[in-house]
Amino acid sequence: MKVLLNDEILERNEAKVDIEDRGYQFGDGVYEVVNIYDGVPFTLKEHIARLYRSAKEIGILLNEQPEQLCNRLLELIKANNMTNGGLYLQISRGVFNRTHHYDQTLTPQLVAYPLPYKSVQDAQTNGVEAITAEDLRWLRCDIKSLNLLYNIMVKQKASEAGAFESILIRDGIVTEGSSSNIFIVKDGILRTHPANNLILNGITRRKLLEIMDANGWDYKIQPFHKEELMEADEVFLTSTTSEVMPIIKIDGVTFSQAKPGPYTSKFQAAFREAVK
Ligand code: PDD
Repeated sequence: MKVLLNDEILERNEAKVDIEDRGYQFGDGVYEVVNIYDGVPFTLKEHIARLYRSAKEIGILLNEQPEQLCNRLLELIKANNMTNGGLYLQISRGVFNRTHHYDQTLTPQLVAYPLPYKSVQDAQTNGVEAITAEDLRWLRCDIKSLNLLYNIMVKQKASEAGAFESILIRDGIVTEGSSSNIFIVKDGILRTHPANNLILNGITRRKLLEIMDANGWDYKIQPFHKEELMEADEVFLTSTTSEVMPIIKIDGVTFSQAKPGPYTSKFQAAFREAVK
């Protein structure tokens, strides 16, 4: 496997980072996961724009133009002969002796490498289970930060319960999943949480809403309560790696007769069409 380390493409075992990299010590950095379909990174521009925004929000200033970064990522995809799979990329603030505060002149450190293709087809066809958990994260969930401690804690909880995802609840309101956005369908209307500081504005979420607009399908960007989640006709999640993923059971309660509902299937098909 070939890895992009700053501006060099190296073999996996040659790519080394400093022990005083602030990404390693503090989770002081930002990241993205991009899907590759037939050698082409899907919505790469949007992912890089979000990466730049996340970096800016935590005061990491990137000198390189987004287009240049995109070009280097395309080279990495080529160097790995990638057809399907993902691309992980992270930018840390840089290397500095361990103090909480930092020097504004640090050089941000970039690492990017391929993620192997994992089929989600069975899960998409049959649907997955979820559990609910309290949303105890910080209040800047709009930043795609390397700090994923609470996200991994609740994902692990889901995994140990034999579920695919944890759906997070803050003050009774469904925010998002530990690594996904959550949607419900009630009486034919799709609903999802507004893109504010309480959720990550998923690229898949945005793409799906674009598809909704293009087809004239009704939706509401409106918070909903846990009770509304549990009384929904259909529930699904979206993310880069899962695309549109039906949720058929939450905390042991079954939805839409334990199979993906008609609206979810329609959105899934429309999304698949868009990535072709
Ligand atoms: N997760 N919300 C959170 C908290 C996420 O971590 C993610 C993505 C999403 C969906 O965003 P997108 O549609 O842009 O992938 C929502 C990535 C895939 C991850 O951490 O692996």
